Amino acid sequence: MVLPSIEERKKRHIEVSLKEDVQTRVGTGLEDVHLIHRCLPELNLEDVRTETELFGHRLSAPFIISAMTGGTEEAARINENLAEAAELLGIGLGVGSQRIALEDPSREYTFRVVREHAPTTLLIGNLGCPQLALGYGVEEARRCVEMIDADALALHMNPLQETIQMGGDTRYRGVLERIREIAEGLDVPVIAKETGSGVAYEEAVLLERAGVEALDVSGVGGTSWSATEHYLARDHGDRLRERLGRTFWDWGIPTAISLVEVKRSTNLTVIASGGIRTGIDMAKAIALGADAVGVAHPLLKYAVKSAESLVDYLRQILLEFRIAMFLVGAGTVRELREVPVVICGRTGEWLRLRGFRPEEFAARAKR
Ligand SMILES: Cc1cc2nc3c(=O)[nH]c(=O)nc-3n(C[C@H](O)[C@H](O)[C@H](O)COP(=O)(O)O)c2cc1C
Repeated sequence: MVLPSIEERKKRHIEVSLKEDVQTRVGTGLEDVHLIHRCLPELNLEDVRTETELFGHRLSAPFIISAMTGGTEEAARINENLAEAAELLGIGLGVGSQRIALEDPSREYTFRVVREHAPTTLLIGNLGCPQLALGYGVEEARRCVEMIDADALALHMNPLQETIQMGGDTRYRGVLERIREIAEGLDVPVIAKETGSGVAYEEAVLLERAGVEALDVSGVGGTSWSATEHYLARDHGDRLRERLGRTFWDWGIPTAISLVEVKRSTNLTVIASGGIRTGIDMAKAIALGADAVGVAHPLLKYAVKSAESLVDYLRQILLEFRIAMFLVGAGTVRELREVPVVICGRTGEWLRLRGFRPEEFAARAKR
């Protein structure tokens, strides 16, 4: 069987994400997380301040457009729209894996457009851990940063996707040491980022010791890479991988659980992503300790159309976030991190069994 090229795979990832159901069938755990409604918020909606700081950058809200694409003509257009929207709204933006441009520098422009269209906002570069096991190191990481004048670099961890993908790179031995070298050798912060299966506290502790500055948990509850690769395997008549993709569709740690585990076990900056869909999800994640949230899949269908349609959609999520802050009586993002949160059901039970105490969130000091 002839394996698809990286370019073909990139194109197909976008098509599949737009046309097929690639979402997990289980929730993020945020459905078990409840904020307490305050019938007398004692502040005005218009006075709610959603601004925050991330990696030394001022953002209008703790929101990042998560890594999605680059490398093809279509990806360049999508990246332009994402960048225009991020710049206009003052939010952060991650590019997709830059491996394709490291291998073929004629594709660098598909990533560079991002800095051209977002000259001031927080930009995050992206490189995959499997490439680190195959020999990429500080030099390649530096090229990724320089390519887009990035403010931080995400090293994505995707062992599930690689096992389902035809011809995937399943070597992960030695990756932690490479991450340590890159974290030491770069002068921008390194983010260890999952891609939809979550980060357990055990790895969070190791990654903190390795010198990364931040984690992006990208947990279960949103886009499933097992699902995406299931469709790609089906295209090529690879029945085994098609079935594997179905079996592992919902594999991993739900976003809310991963977030609490890693925030409570480390002093790292933590981005919560994986299934964040509304401003209420966003407010819950910040109240559980996230420094910012990331959203990928729902933005794609707007980004292929126009920057304007994307801006409209993002404005809605950001307004929902502001309203949720108002309704819990939080005038600032810092205050939102202190509001009481009730964690019930499977999420509460899972956290308790793993040694975390969900009760502590509910017992936060009353105003
Ligand atoms: C079309 C598409 C392409 C993606 N490509 C990358 C990538 O190159 N690098 C990466 O770190 N994550 C990538 N992701 C994962 C997202 O950044 C994010 O972690 C994941 O989709 C969960 O967020 P969501 O549920 O909001 O989609 C991609 C996601 C989508 C939908």
